[in-house]
Amino acid sequence: MRKLVGFTIKIFNLMNRMINKVDFPEKVDITLSVASGVESVLKKELLRLGYPSAPAVNGAITFSGDLSAVARCNLNLRTADRVYIKLAEFTALTFDDLFDGVKEIEWERYIDINGRVLVNGKCVKSKLFSISDCQKIVKKSIATRLCSQYKISRLVESGNEYSIEFSIFKDVATILLNTSGAGLHKRGYRDLVGIAPIKETLASALLLMSDYYYQKPFLDPFCGSGTMAIECAKIALNIAGGMGRNFAFNDWKGFDKKYFDLALTEALDNEKRDRKVEIFASDIDKKAVSLATRHAERAGLKGKIQFSRCDVKDVYVPFKDGTIVTNPPYGERVYDKLEAEECYKGLRKSFDKLDNWSLFLITSEKRFEKIFGKKCDRERKMYNSNKECRFYYYYKDREKN
Ligand SMILES: C[S@@+](CC[C@H](N)C(=O)[O-])C[C@H]1O[C@@H](n2cnc3c(N)ncnc32)[C@H](O)[C@@H]1O
Repeated sequence: MRKLVGFTIKIFNLMNRMINKVDFPEKVDITLSVASGVESVLKKELLRLGYPSAPAVNGAITFSGDLSAVARCNLNLRTADRVYIKLAEFTALTFDDLFDGVKEIEWERYIDINGRVLVNGKCVKSKLFSISDCQKIVKKSIATRLCSQYKISRLVESGNEYSIEFSIFKDVATILLNTSGAGLHKRGYRDLVGIAPIKETLASALLLMSDYYYQKPFLDPFCGSGTMAIECAKIALNIAGGMGRNFAFNDWKGFDKKYFDLALTEALDNEKRDRKVEIFASDIDKKAVSLATRHAERAGLKGKIQFSRCDVKDVYVPFKDGTIVTNPPYGERVYDKLEAEECYKGLRKSFDKLDNWSLFLITSEKRFEKIFGKKCDRERKMYNSNKECRFYYYYKDREKN
């Protein structure tokens, strides 16, 4: 009997040790991945959240913060792609270097005994170039460390997912833990796909680059599934970018729930849902208008956006000034070049009637200014789904042109 009790206590202690091992460090390095062309907007967002400016290197911004910063960045940032915890950076010229460097990481502080480990990565300009081999090495190294720490012979992998990303660039390996899960552009409101939708993160970036602020009327005359108008309403009403969605870290045992709860309370306190906003969105396609309306409702924005079916050439909004930010057809996929040209000419017709409005438009059509018949005040190179585009600025002071 005494033997049995002793054995039970031993098992209990072991289990307890295993369960309690996961305990994220308070201070971490946080890496935000960001699309090319959007870095400066993300930096401004970070400053607004109270984090210092850090340089953007190879599509990522890294700064040191605490776990509350991980939660706040995930919930609030509108333009970051993902939020990672950077776990290590070391030189990896051989598979052994990679294995040893990964094994040094205290994985038991992050991944619980039942954790499912997913590994993805990339190798660029490095001696180690086989992604699949590196993937296997990284996974094996993590498993070796966890098995030795948890005193188990193999990983069970029946629990929550931990997505690890490695990047080997010029022989330097960076190991990241993805705290977001699905990309942050997946806000959750867009459940059905429209015609060539723009990523929510890019839509937000374009809006934040424009001269829009909540007291101005806004219009997207090519609204499609409603992304631009919905992101605009979220900015106007100060609704956090990721409000309503789940993040990978929400499921992790070692990531204290208090950090997310605090971030959520703060974000909810900051909301200004009763602001009066004038946000207009239209599209020639009836199905697009009903899709956009559905998505706005799913985003909790019922009644905040005025949707209508309208050809761009007939669009009119009864306000003297305002901002248009739009993603028209490019003439490459669903619509051909000629149809896209008609859209740009139609937009020009309406723009001329919209007295003192500014216009911000993204397209891959290099002849846009010529077709539109007006030189822009400024343009910026951007990428939309890896397609090189230009973002054209037409400020409201038309005298400048
Ligand atoms: C690139 S999509 C916009 C996608 C949108 N930004 C989104 O995230 O779903 C272009 C949209 O322009 C609309 N469109 C095409 N010709 C139009 C016209 N003459 N007037 C108004 N909308 C038009 C299409 O129906 C399509 O929804």
